[in-house]
Amino acid sequence: MLPFLLLLLPAISPASAWMPVEDWESGNVTASVGELGQCVCHVYLPETTFPADRVQHMQQVSTDLILEVDIQRNKLESYGGRLDVYLKELMDLTVRVAMLESSPDAYIKLDFELLRIELREFEAIVSQLKESLNSSSPMFDSLYTEIRNMTFIVNQLETFDKNNLEVIRIEFAKLQKKLEECQIEQEIIKPDIGNCNNTGILSISKPMVIQLNAHLSPGYQYGGWGKDSKPIRGSESMYFYGAYSTPSVHAFVLYSDYDQLLLRAGYKQHSITHGWAGAGNNYIVHGNAIYYQINSPFSMSKLNLTSSLKEYRVIPAASQKFSYSYSANQNLDFAADETGLWVMYASEQSKGKIILAKIDEKSFGVADEMNTGVFKPQAGNAFMACGVMYATRSVDVSTEEIFYAFDTKTKQQKHLNIPFKKFQEKYSNLDYNPTDQKLYMYNNGYYVSYNVRFNKE
Ligand SMILES: *[C@@H]1O[C@H](CO)[C@@H](O)[C@H](O)[C@H]1NC(C)=O
Ligand SMILES: *[C@@H]1O[C@H](CO)[C@@H](O)[C@H](O)[C@H]1NC(C)=O
Ligand SMILES: *[C@@H]1O[C@H](CO)[C@@H](O)[C@H](O)[C@H]1NC(C)=O
Ligand SMILES: *[C@@H]1O[C@H](CO)[C@@H](O)[C@H](O)[C@H]1NC(C)=O
Ligand SMILES: *[C@@H]1O[C@H](CO)[C@@H](O)[C@H](O)[C@H]1NC(C)=O
Repeated sequence: MLPFLLLLLPAISPASAWMPVEDWESGNVTASVGELGQCVCHVYLPETTFPADRVQHMQQVSTDLILEVDIQRNKLESYGGRLDVYLKELMDLTVRVAMLESSPDAYIKLDFELLRIELREFEAIVSQLKESLNSSSPMFDSLYTEIRNMTFIVNQLETFDKNNLEVIRIEFAKLQKKLEECQIEQEIIKPDIGNCNNTGILSISKPMVIQLNAHLSPGYQYGGWGKDSKPIRGSESMYFYGAYSTPSVHAFVLYSDYDQLLLRAGYKQHSITHGWAGAGNNYIVHGNAIYYQINSPFSMSKLNLTSSLKEYRVIPAASQKFSYSYSANQNLDFAADETGLWVMYASEQSKGKIILAKIDEKSFGVADEMNTGVFKPQAGNAFMACGVMYATRSVDVSTEEIFYAFDTKTKQQKHLNIPFKKFQEKYSNLDYNPTDQKLYMYNNGYYVSYNVRFNKE
């Protein structure tokens, strides 16, 4: 192949002085070198009148269109940005209100003043947002109403006792959820429930700290919460919760819906005793049954919430030697995703590396086992999403990352680095729920959730 030689001549070349001024012609277009050596191009247009006015009009229309697109894009961008800021501030507020519960009275008065001011700001933001988006979404109206209602509540408070704080905290949490739903509705984060046409997790949202656990005790640092990953009819909005001050598991609490969870009211308690006590807090609810670890005998246990029937299955290979890094006794970790029910454990044979096993729901037996490359004691936790096992680990006290993925379809593993924020350093339960594509974390006594974004190539 011959090398190309490209010569770039300056527009005003000293050579132009002796270059012949020779026209190059092709039909109705001519080109020549001008007196100063610049390139001159002549176009001879046909006799017919050139529709200059129409061209001008088209130019105007396209300028208008570009402007319009810009305006719309800016609106969307600023909307997204502001919602982000808004959500974060609300989260801070929720956390602060939760902290108020344990603060000395002296600080409370001051904080109420701030709450009032911030609510006024929120109100202004939401009405501005609504106006600038020209949105007729009923979500905005209801958000607006709720902020007004909260302002009303805060203003009404004359005594700063715990009950009133509780009311505000619940209202904040509801507002936060509404806002999140609003964000989803506006398709900034559009969940594509049940669709696994993606190449894995892309990112994890900011944490949504809902509240301190139902026992109102930061001492209840071991526990779990979430929703049924395959709810039976009528139980779609149910939430479960369990917590204790040790890694052992003695009871589960069920709430009929989110509001009941916030109010810590109207719950149904399932106490588990007489040899059925659990451990590790890596349980889930799937098909109205709780799957959890028991220690005598060391096995998978299933509590059918419909029939209250309990069953267990021993996994001979599973070892009690290997737990996750934040908590003891986490030997059997249950998970459910779009592809079914799973259990993760480590064995002596696997030298502490996680084995991923599919659970056959009918027989409640292990159907298929796969070896992964994760040394269990180095992982914070693991969960399943769209047939892929993800393992997490600590980055620092406030950051966790998904560092590993194992695809059950291709049997391929890969290293990742998808960070996400924690509210507290330690957590005992982290699970994905395919019905809302969220992660649920029990973060050292606090209910936390995240939106999961998948990579749709
Ligand atoms: C030059 O323009 C005339 C019409 O004004 C057209 O008929 C002719 O084909 C054009 N010549 C070339 C080479 O394009
Ligand atoms: C807002 O939307 C309505 C209809 O949806 C429309 O008639 C109106 O002109 C819009 N206003 C602005 C300022 O865009
Ligand atoms: C707001 O308060 C009004 C009256 O106090 C009540 O009727 C309404 O249901 C409340 N709205 C919300 C969304 O809580
Ligand atoms: C999955 O996504 C790809 C790329 O977007 C698309 O071509 C394909 O039709 C999708 N398949 C299904 C089953 O939705
Ligand atoms: C729970 O028990 C009910 C009633 O016996 C039964 O229909 C259902 O299949 C059981 N669920 C599971 C997950 O075993």
